[in-house]
Amino acid sequence: MKRVPSVLWALLVFAALYLFFDRGMAPLTKALTGTPAPLPSSLVFMYAGMAAVAILLYFSVREDRWNNFLQPVLDFLRVAAPPSPAKRLSRMAVLILIPAALGWRTYLSASATPDPPSDPPGIHFNLPNQYVSVGNPLPWTEQNIREGGILYTANCAMCHGDAQDGEGLFARAGQPKPANFRDGGTIAQLDENYLYWRIKEGGPGLPQGSIEYRSAMPVWDGVLTDDQIWKIIMFEYTNAGQKPAKR
Ligand code: HEC
Repeated sequence: MKRVPSVLWALLVFAALYLFFDRGMAPLTKALTGTPAPLPSSLVFMYAGMAAVAILLYFSVREDRWNNFLQPVLDFLRVAAPPSPAKRLSRMAVLILIPAALGWRTYLSASATPDPPSDPPGIHFNLPNQYVSVGNPLPWTEQNIREGGILYTANCAMCHGDAQDGEGLFARAGQPKPANFRDGGTIAQLDENYLYWRIKEGGPGLPQGSIEYRSAMPVWDGVLTDDQIWKIIMFEYTNAGQKPAKR
């Protein structure tokens, strides 16, 4: 009977160990303790690596074993003169397939996965009833706008940006991003009382089931007075070069 080549043995042992790590652990631990505890894939990878090293060590520790181990590989790769067409083909196939498979794997793990869908900019909601008849009691004077600017810089700029472009220091920390007030899709579409509502109640004031849990927009009720909020609103429009939309 022809001897089974060492390489084949090595591969079989490795495959058996790998299968055991990957599939066998869960039933074994279930039988022993009653709770299946499969190995996490990182551990499977690590144990399989150690198994491979152990197998190679076993074969390489004695010279005759190592030669036996390498012989079929070398036979396969070396040019037999003249090589039969079948052998030539299978050799080419292996030499092309292995790098191609490795390349494909690398490509798959390196190619970017698509970003999770982002919230569209400037999502707007129905104004709650109690805000419908609220109006700005303050005049649009230079003094009020300037005071609004100071308040904006102290309270809002870290998210909405010094330039009101939604690119403040913390802008990238959340999803949705802070509103860009220069964009025609945000405050330019809205009336002052809508802003008043959004500033007073922030993200938590949004309708249930919308973005209320994800919005980082703080609640300013109790932090800023109403007058301060109106001043900030006037500053926001003026500085962003926008005007409140008329209802
Ligand atoms: C911690 C970051 C953060 C701070 C600070 C912050 N905001 Fe916001 N703001 C957001 C985010 C995020 C959104 C977008 C999500 C949303 O609409 O709730 C938003 C949305 C808004 C909107 C709604 C715009 C629209 O088109 O619907 C207004 C108005 C607003 N902010 C004003 C302010 C004002 C005024 C201040 C300061 C008093 C302020 N924000 C401070 C994060 C912040």
